[in-house]
Amino acid sequence: MKLIAINGSPRKNWNTDSLLKEVIDGASSAGAETEMIYLYNLDFKGCKGCMACKIKNGKSLGRCNKKDDLKEVLDKVHEADVLVLGSPIYWHDVTGVMRCFIERLFFQYLNYDDHDSPLSTPKRTAMIYTMNMPSELHEENKYETLIFKKYENLMKEFFGHCETLYTTQTLFVKNYEKYHLGVFDEEFMKERHETHFSKITEKAYELGVNLIEMSDRK
Ligand SMILES: Cc1cc2nc3c(=O)[nH]c(=O)nc-3n(C[C@H](O)[C@H](O)[C@H](O)COP(=O)(O)O)c2cc1C
Repeated sequence: MKLIAINGSPRKNWNTDSLLKEVIDGASSAGAETEMIYLYNLDFKGCKGCMACKIKNGKSLGRCNKKDDLKEVLDKVHEADVLVLGSPIYWHDVTGVMRCFIERLFFQYLNYDDHDSPLSTPKRTAMIYTMNMPSELHEENKYETLIFKKYENLMKEFFGHCETLYTTQTLFVKNYEKYHLGVFDEEFMKERHETHFSKITEKAYELGVNLIEMSDRK
């Protein structure tokens, strides 16, 4: 049983990275082999629409043909039993690199002859997001539909399953006094990190365990 975590945050050991590491720890405790892939360490771009993955009887049918750092990652994802994508929210969406990854991941699998039969391999999946915005503002900014449901539905469409975990009002920096970050109340942010974020961390660990145990029952 293999779980791959794809990290779309540029900041190692911060919020997104911490949650993905918890998922990995949970999955390992349930006996899975795990791997974290840091997209910011890779040299790749989004889908170029070259159509190599759609050529009739082509050797790349259903698989991205672009030979860059993402090729090996997409191969590993194809073989994996569990896939977890983690990203901070940047400008009301996942980060640009995660978006490029998602373009490549799904387009290869899209079956224009029959939308109901994607060329992907079924797996358990999860989306993890971290963000500054308090949940009270999600409705106004349509986060539920524009982000959470959109990606959950895509993952379900291609892999048959997806769970979503997110945390809000995350810690931006260790020392707020050093920066022009006046809208944030440092004491509140640190208190929230201690209390709320640690609960989400536990949920991330449980998610890792569950994704493996559910897959075992498949
Ligand atoms: C370029 C940029 C854009 C951001 N845009 C948003 C946003 O639209 N909504 C939001 O809630 N937070 C936004 N944030 C805050 C991050 O989502 C938040 O700090 C996140 O937890 C960072 O994740 P990390 O600690 O793993 O890097 C933005 C941060 C950056 C640097």
